[in-house]
Amino acid sequence: MNMGSGSVPQLKGARRFSYEELEKYTNNFSEANGIGSGGYGKVYQGNLSTGKMIAIKRAQRDSMQGGHEFKNEIELLSRVHHKNLVILEGFCFDQAEQMLVYEYVPNGTVMDSLSGKSRIRLDWMGRLNVALGTARGLVYLHEHANPPIIHKDIKSTNILLDESLNAKVADFGLSKPKVETTQVKGIPLSRLNPNAESASTSELLRKPASEMHHVQKHQQS
Ligand SMILES: Nc1ncnc2c1ncn2[C@@H]1O[C@H](COP(=O)(O)OP(=O)(O)OP(=O)(O)O)[C@@H](O)[C@H]1O
Ligand SMILES: [Mg+2]
Repeated sequence: MNMGSGSVPQLKGARRFSYEELEKYTNNFSEANGIGSGGYGKVYQGNLSTGKMIAIKRAQRDSMQGGHEFKNEIELLSRVHHKNLVILEGFCFDQAEQMLVYEYVPNGTVMDSLSGKSRIRLDWMGRLNVALGTARGLVYLHEHANPPIIHKDIKSTNILLDESLNAKVADFGLSKPKVETTQVKGIPLSRLNPNAESASTSELLRKPASEMHHVQKHQQS
């Protein structure tokens, strides 16, 4: 049997990146590569030598978790795959840093689209598609992932839009600012706090004024 490198199965899981690699991919974590920041820390865009783009979340000191916990969560989340969930490409646990490496999702967040910050305009069907995609991603986490994962932080900045404007849910489990919110395990839905951001998420399903006359026409006929 030919077991040359070309015929050996190439397994795709989250991989380990060295600090130097990520430094190189982000131009030494330059401001120009910065794409945002959240409770976990700064987020940078990086380009792999293959041309693939990645988003790197660099934990600030107070967001770091114990090494054992970081490792367990990466092992768990790297097994989670669904077309409506952002892929965890890898991690860096080097030089006293904790970084999470995700696929780069090119069309910004739903918040950016709704607020007009990005140039992405979602028409009514586009919005429904995003809502459905988000729901499918969450159903997968709740009912098909083993063990189940409850997101606990669903909001419009955690729903990203891919090149076809499909929803990609981000930040399930990992990369939460507080230890208490980083646990990846099922908790009863009844114990979840209503999220302060749900107002802006429900904005997604407010029909744009430009399309209201279609609804009115339907209602009249
Ligand atoms: N995988 C990704 N691809 C492209 N951009 C991303 C990706 N992940 C995050 N971003 C960008 O980085 C920004 C910051 O993300 P981050 O998750 O750190 O903060 P947040 O979701 O805005 O707030 P919070 O800390 O409360 O979750 C996002 O608003 C988004 O613009
Ligand atoms: Mg987020």
